[in-house]
Amino acid sequence: MSERTGCRTTTTAAPAEPEVAAVLSGALTDSSTLSRDGVLTLLQAGPAETQALFAAADLVRGRNLGGEVHLRGIIEFSNCCVNNCRYCGLRRDNGKVARYRLEPAEILAAAREAAALGVQTIVLQSGEDPCYTADMLAGIIQRLKEELAVAVTLSVGDRSKDDYRLLRRAGADRYLLKHETAAPGLFARLRPGTTLTGRLKHLHWLKELGYQVGSGNMVGLPGQTLSILAEDIMLLKELGVEMAGIGPFIPHPDTPLAGHPAGDLDLTLKALAVTRLLLPQTHLPATTALGSIHPDGRRRGLLCGANVIMPNVTPLAYRARYQIYPGKTGLHTPPLESVNAAKTLIQSLDRQVGAGYGHACAVKPGTNKKCRLDGPGERAPGGRENL
Ligand code: 5AD
Ligand code: SF4
Repeated sequence: MSERTGCRTTTTAAPAEPEVAAVLSGALTDSSTLSRDGVLTLLQAGPAETQALFAAADLVRGRNLGGEVHLRGIIEFSNCCVNNCRYCGLRRDNGKVARYRLEPAEILAAAREAAALGVQTIVLQSGEDPCYTADMLAGIIQRLKEELAVAVTLSVGDRSKDDYRLLRRAGADRYLLKHETAAPGLFARLRPGTTLTGRLKHLHWLKELGYQVGSGNMVGLPGQTLSILAEDIMLLKELGVEMAGIGPFIPHPDTPLAGHPAGDLDLTLKALAVTRLLLPQTHLPATTALGSIHPDGRRRGLLCGANVIMPNVTPLAYRARYQIYPGKTGLHTPPLESVNAAKTLIQSLDRQVGAGYGHACAVKPGTNKKCRLDGPGERAPGGRENL
């Protein structure tokens, strides 16, 4: 077992089988018993125990979330970005990218098309692009919510708290802001000009404002160790995220990390499975990146804890220009086919396409009872500041 998740330089022994079995059995009885050390033990599991880990994660997913797999349609509406993340193909300094911005009318048209295909969550994703002011985004969100029966997820990066408040008031239900790596030094090196502390502050604001919050990280970033990966997973619990996206790092040739090895499929699946054990009710996508490093990646993700698929519903003309990493699947797959492929995959596993909006499960304040939030604009209850 390698200690560095990307470069595989040093080797540590896999833990003994009984140790893995004990951690698994504890987690299956009570997820709150899973400690950081337990997470690390599971990440280091050898091949035989890994199958037991995957089976346990699948069991926990079934017990807590049933067979529903929720579809979230992503619209990549701008590939412009002011940031310069060293891992990302859309980074500011990559002069080879033909930049684009969708007009609000194009975004609405793409959302209408997705909604007509039965997609009940629209994810608006872009680079960090201040050309879309909060007022503009709020206008788009309002139109979406008035016209279509959809939940809206934003994935537009760091903004001011006032912006987040405005967007929430406009009707945004959820926000994805990945922490990317829980190691502060690595974060600062890989995302020049930004800090992990800053990112965590934004995540707390989003929670306070009543968003259902998603975070997540990459697996196999250069410089990431298994112990950092364990921290990544523990951070998701500490943040109490309602969604977590975990995908492999894939080196982009036009970035400073070109030539580094990609994150490993099995390790990514292990991280996903361990996250499921730790966070039994959190929405976990089988990410596009997982599907991009292996043709069977998304299916395997669904079999070890994932319960969400995010078909790309961006107009085809723009797809090839949103290459965060190379080899991204679906560059030529129109929305109808992307959604149908996801539905076929779900049915092939004897699972069902999620009914309703697939909002986060939440604990009702003051009780241990779980409730399901299922109105498109309904707010997660508990401890949230007034909007
Ligand atoms: N490989 C895999 N995922 C990447 N992301 C950015 N660059 C890469 C890469 N090279 C992910 C990050 C970011 C999201 C938009 O894409 O996690 O949050
Ligand atoms: Fe911009 Fe996001 Fe890419 Fe960083 S990861 S360069 S913020 S699009």
